[in-house]
Amino acid sequence: MSPRRAAGRRRRGRFLVLEGLDGAGTTTQAQRLAAWLRAQGRQVHVTAEPSGGPVGALVRQVLTGRVGGAAARPGAANPFDPHALALLFAADRLDHVASEIAPRLAEGQDVISDRYTLSSLAYQSLTCGGPAWIEAINARAPAPDATLFLEVSAATAVRRRFAASSRRELFEVPAFQRRVARSYQRALARLQEQGERVLVVDGEQPVEAVTAALAERVKSLL
Ligand SMILES: Nc1ncnc2c1ncn2[C@@H]1O[C@H](COP(=O)(O)OP(=O)(O)O)[C@@H](O)[C@H]1O
Ligand SMILES: [Mg+2]
Repeated sequence: MSPRRAAGRRRRGRFLVLEGLDGAGTTTQAQRLAAWLRAQGRQVHVTAEPSGGPVGALVRQVLTGRVGGAAARPGAANPFDPHALALLFAADRLDHVASEIAPRLAEGQDVISDRYTLSSLAYQSLTCGGPAWIEAINARAPAPDATLFLEVSAATAVRRRFAASSRRELFEVPAFQRRVARSYQRALARLQEQGERVLVVDGEQPVEAVTAALAERVKSLL
């Protein structure tokens, strides 16, 4: 077989995104889904947004108040400009794709990202006057093969989060979480209307059952 033919036969990996409220279990399930895919003989790269790149580092600094100070919190008198933050998230996403995601997919690896465009649609739509502009600034981010949404109630998400950690970051305010939960539902519907594959999985189940449900949905995409 010629090298050219061999390269042509190599299949691009699958790009899978895990989404959900803070505390829904995306970080837990990204690792567990990766383990399941590896057990199927696949090579898998797990990543997250904000990314580990330079723009991602800046986003994290804003979220924790190290850039913009205490004013970075929503409801503060002089918050870090939410449109600037939305642009940072979008810029980080494009850099993440170019530097980390696309090269691995091209090599045939699967990539699982813990959060992606749906997070921006859910969170930044709330602070930037709706989804239209958020969609526009994310238009160049390639659609994943599937966005897997872990559906949990805001109460479950908050309970899990505060059981795990006492740190409160920018988005970790219970009242805000209820608004985010509704915003996620609207954002999901919009992505689906645009023809993206969004698969909703019941995240209230025990960890093992959630992984099994994810594996069942992903199986048909391989
Ligand atoms: N299905 C589940 N049932 C019970 N607890 C869970 C479940 N999934 C995750 N957890 C726990 O909830 C907390 C948040 O999980 P994590 O995966 O970090 O969520 P996220 O990344 O979505 O914020 C962790 O302590 C984790 O062990
Ligand atoms: Mg997480």
